[in-house]
Formats: sequence, C-alpha cells, structure tokens
Amino acid sequence: MVVGPSEGDEDVSMAARSETNEEPVKVALLGCGTVGGAVARLLSEQADDLAARIGRPLEVVGIAIRRPNRQRDLPGIDPSLFTTDAEALVRRGDLDLVIEVIGGIEPARSLILTALENGASVVTANKALLAEDGPTLYEAADRAGVDLYYEAAVAGAIPIVRPLLESLAGDEITTVIGIVNGTTNFILDKMASAGSGFSETLAEAQELGYAEADPTADVEGFDAAAKAAILSSLAFHSRIALSDVHREGITEVSSSDIASAREMGCVVKLLAICELTDDPEARVSARVHPAMIPLGHPLASVGGAFNAVYVESRSAGQLMFYGPGAGGAPTASAVLGDVVTVARNRVRGAAGPGESSYAERAAATIGDVVTRYHVSLEVSDAVGVLETVAHCFAEHGVSLQTVRQAPVRDGSTEDARLVLVTHDAPDAALSATVEALRELPEVAQVASVMRVEGQ
Ligand code: HSE
Repeated sequence: MVVGPSEGDEDVSMAARSETNEEPVKVALLGCGTVGGAVARLLSEQADDLAARIGRPLEVVGIAIRRPNRQRDLPGIDPSLFTTDAEALVRRGDLDLVIEVIGGIEPARSLILTALENGASVVTANKALLAEDGPTLYEAADRAGVDLYYEAAVAGAIPIVRPLLESLAGDEITTVIGIVNGTTNFILDKMASAGSGFSETLAEAQELGYAEADPTADVEGFDAAAKAAILSSLAFHSRIALSDVHREGITEVSSSDIASAREMGCVVKLLAICELTDDPEARVSARVHPAMIPLGHPLASVGGAFNAVYVESRSAGQLMFYGPGAGGAPTASAVLGDVVTVARNRVRGAAGPGESSYAERAAATIGDVVTRYHVSLEVSDAVGVLETVAHCFAEHGVSLQTVRQAPVRDGSTEDARLVLVTHDAPDAALSATVEALRELPEVAQVASVMRVEGQ
C-alpha cells in the first residue's frame, strides 16, 4: 500500500506534489492494537500531507499482528498487509522504517534489534524496553547508522523527549518532575474531589475505562518509573536504568493523606522526580512516589487523566509541557511525528541525534535524597507528648519546620493530632524517624507520612 499522493487527488496541492519524489519510504508496523490501529489509520488518512512533509510517499509494506481473527475497523488498509510473522517482516532487508507498538520486553526487543541490524530505522513507543535496555538499542542503531526515536514512550502526545534531547541540548537541566501516569492522576484527583478511598476510586476508574483490569503497572508506579528512567537519562546525559529508579505506588494513599494535604494548601500527586544530588558527585536521583505539592505549583492543577512534565533549566528557567498522556490517537500523534522526522532523515541519507550519555553520572539511592516530610500522628493529649515527639525528630537530626496540633478526626478529646512538617533532610533520616515514632507508646497511630515536594 503506497500511502502517498495519488493521481487526481484534489486535496493535494501542486506545490506538495512537485516536491514529492515517487520513490517510497518503506514502513512496517509491528502491532495493531489501540495505538497501532490509530497509527495505521492516520498513515492512510493523512498520506498526502505526510508525503508532502517528507518529500516522498510512505509505503506500508506489512503490519504484524498477533490475532488474525480479530475484527479491525481500518478502512483504507489492504487486508493482505496483515501478517502474523513479525520476524520475517523485520528481516525483509528493504525496510526504511519499523514502527514498534507491541509493547513489553519480548518479542519487541528481538524484533527491534533485528530491524536495526537489517538497516531499518525504528520508531517505538516502548517505555518498558527503553528503560530496561535502552543502551543496547541505541548501540545497535548507532552500529547500523540508523535512527531510534521514541517520543511516544513518555507522556503520550506531549512532546518531551525531543525537547530534552534537542531543544534544550544547549541548556543545563536541573530538575524534571512529571505527572506521567494518567490512571493514577485520575484516581488521586477523584479521591480529592469525592473524598473517597483508594480501592473504591480504583473500582470506579476501572468501570469508566480509566484503569486496566490489572492496574498493577499503573497504581504500583512501574509505568511511571520506566518513564522516569528515560527522562532522567535524557535530562542528565547519563544511563539511568529502571532498576536505578526508586518506586512507590499510590495504593497506600488514604483519604486522610489527601485531607492532610488540603489542610496544608497542597494536593497529592504521583510524581516522577528526576534531579541531581547536592553533593560534589551530583548523582542522578530518579524516583517515583506520591507527594504533596503546593496548590501554586504548575503541576498541582493537572487534573483527570492528563499528564504534564515540569522542567527547570539554568537558562530557560521553568518550562511546563502538558497534554494527553495516553490513548490511541494522541499516542499515534507522537509516533507519526517521529515517523516524519525519521523518514526525512532517510530521504537525506542522514541520521538524527543518538544517545547522549557522556556525563556518565551515577544514580543516587533514595536514602541519600534530601527531601521534606509531612507527618500526621495521633497521640495522647497529655503533658510532655509533644516534647517526646520533637525529641525523636531531633535524635535523627531532622529539623522541624512547622508543628500544629489539631483535634482528632473522630472527635475524641483524650487524643490529639500532631501535624509536623520537616525541613529538608536525608530521606534515610526521615524514614528512620518515622520508624522510631511508630515505636513510641505516646503515638497511637502514624496516620499519614508523605514527602513534600516542589517548594
Ligand atoms: N497506562 C498509562 C497511563 C499510559 O495511565 O498513563 C501508558 O503509559
């Protein structure tokens, strides 16, 4: 199927046609699910414009699928293009470009490596594979002198890979904080607006189609952690793998945490935080965890299933990238942007930028990260309790910024709620403090513990 300008097509301007050399750029598509189907549809629907932008038509020569009997609503796609033999497709030897939207580690990794070894450039949306084995893919692309592009791997439609890799290549990035998982943002947002607990909100999100039947990858933070590995590698020109990313999901976030955040003028978000440690080594701290951020922070107003990535850099200052982070057409938009760029590179006989890992920064462990905690305790309302609690923080070298006593939420007059916010301290000291607080007889319950970010 040549998806380029056709004879007699009234919609194609003469200018576009005159720039179009008829030698097609040969494309194979691996995967035809939600994203792959949208990519196939848009390749067909937008063929003339894509050809005009590239300077040559794109020719889809095969679409690898797993389930040949599945009903697919793809008008304009020649059914003879479908094949279950993805391996044979990537081995053809005449491909210019392979689009991988299968996801997961295998067979995606083998297929991408085979495609690269056979001289095809690759566009992929595979965050898990890039986070686990990005350098292997980059090295294979480099050896073959072809492109590896992956804008769709992080935050769906939002342009963030290319801004980090190219637009900000002359700047010094200091911080990247992302809301990069729409499912968890939807759940936390709903918990805040409805005052509901995690489990019931997850069930509602599943009913509405915002959460998968198996929500583990999203709610346990695996999806966001893969994106954090990719973002921190790009931002800090280093190799940060999935195993370097500290990960905590949102399953333990309670309505009490969310109420505490509100009392502090904050909101709870699952954040992917990428920054450098303050020590002379300036290691990369990449972590995913729920955190309170002040309502005035640009990320605080990111609601529903939307994604956003906040970037701070030395010269540009504060930047914010916002938009839909998932879904067929939005993700396909990012895929097609890469397809156009890679196809243009092929037409010019050039390749775009490869991996930039020259800085070779090491990854920090979570214990070394300097952060702040919000701690809410239910304590007996008696003489000396506040002193005992404050002493526990002091013993661990953690300085308190604010201390507030509030009535307990069940209305008891014998107990009180202490809400403490710390100054910056190493995460290891903060978590040791919380462990010690749990052992104190004066502390009936550690009701809420959460990091505070973005101040
Ligand atoms: N499941 C992800 C989300 C989208 O909820 O944002 C794909 O990474």
